[in-house]
Amino acid sequence: MQILNTRDELQDLRAQVRRDGKKIGLVPTMGNLHQGHLALVDAAIKDCDFVLASIFANPLQFGPEEDFENYPKTPGSDYEKLEQSGCNVVFEPSVLELYPGGLDNQTQVTVPGLSERHCGVSRPVHFSGVCTVVSKLFNLTMPDTAFFGQKDYQQLQIIRKMTADLCLPIKVVGVPTVRDNNGLAMSSRNNYLNNSQLLIASNLYTSLEQAKVKVEEGERDYSVLEAQAIEFQTQIGLKTDYFSICNAATLEPATQTDLHLVILTAAWLSPTRLIDNIQVKLSN
Ligand code: PAJ
Repeated sequence: MQILNTRDELQDLRAQVRRDGKKIGLVPTMGNLHQGHLALVDAAIKDCDFVLASIFANPLQFGPEEDFENYPKTPGSDYEKLEQSGCNVVFEPSVLELYPGGLDNQTQVTVPGLSERHCGVSRPVHFSGVCTVVSKLFNLTMPDTAFFGQKDYQQLQIIRKMTADLCLPIKVVGVPTVRDNNGLAMSSRNNYLNNSQLLIASNLYTSLEQAKVKVEEGERDYSVLEAQAIEFQTQIGLKTDYFSICNAATLEPATQTDLHLVILTAAWLSPTRLIDNIQVKLSN
């Protein structure tokens, strides 16, 4: 497995791989890799001839009060995991390499509407930062297919819209969320939690499952379910940021006639902010 640190090296290699007629798969990450990330690599390996993963903790997507400085970094074990999973190349640029003109004057890509709700309310700069770095990675690698986790459902929908709106010839694939045995979605931020906090955190998924069951049983007063979920989260020690039952495509509040729903939630456990979601497909 090759490790590349510069844009020039990456573009040279991508041109060579393209000349060889290979189908390129891209898996963007911020490192500190776990089974969730590796599920994306596996999906890419099944679908593509050449798999490129990027490791880049992107300062542009963190707000001033957020955890950019402390974001966990584990390059040695990341390389090992990627090599074992069969990834061909890792692109791990420095901040200067991706933002040579600095962060303040960087041209940004913003997806309006979708980026402003849910996580966008408490993280106003986040999704522009994500879209800007993902656009750069798309332009540098020109993949046939790019793989993102359903764990970050809003991010996935925003990247789908950005790709469509900018006419980028890239297929965006969403990979199902990988969870611990107790249901907790794997996340680099779980590293911030001790054992008892991990147990509390697993109730984030319980709150989603409970709401899903009630929707499937026919409850259509979604605001009641949202209020019940917030009460449950509060009782077990989570501080709810939002709990929203939405149309799975638009992420607008679900209406009584929507059949494909997603329930999105975010909550704080001490300073750590956790997100999760669950899809619900109704037949009528
Ligand atoms: P990061 O949090 O490192 O996640 C990288 C990719 O792994 C994302 O597509 C995310 O949805 C996926 N992922 C994380 N945990 C997962 C899980 N438990 N199951 C399945 N997939 C999971 O998301 C980012 O980085 C950044 O915003 C990025 C897209 C790389 C842009 O900087």
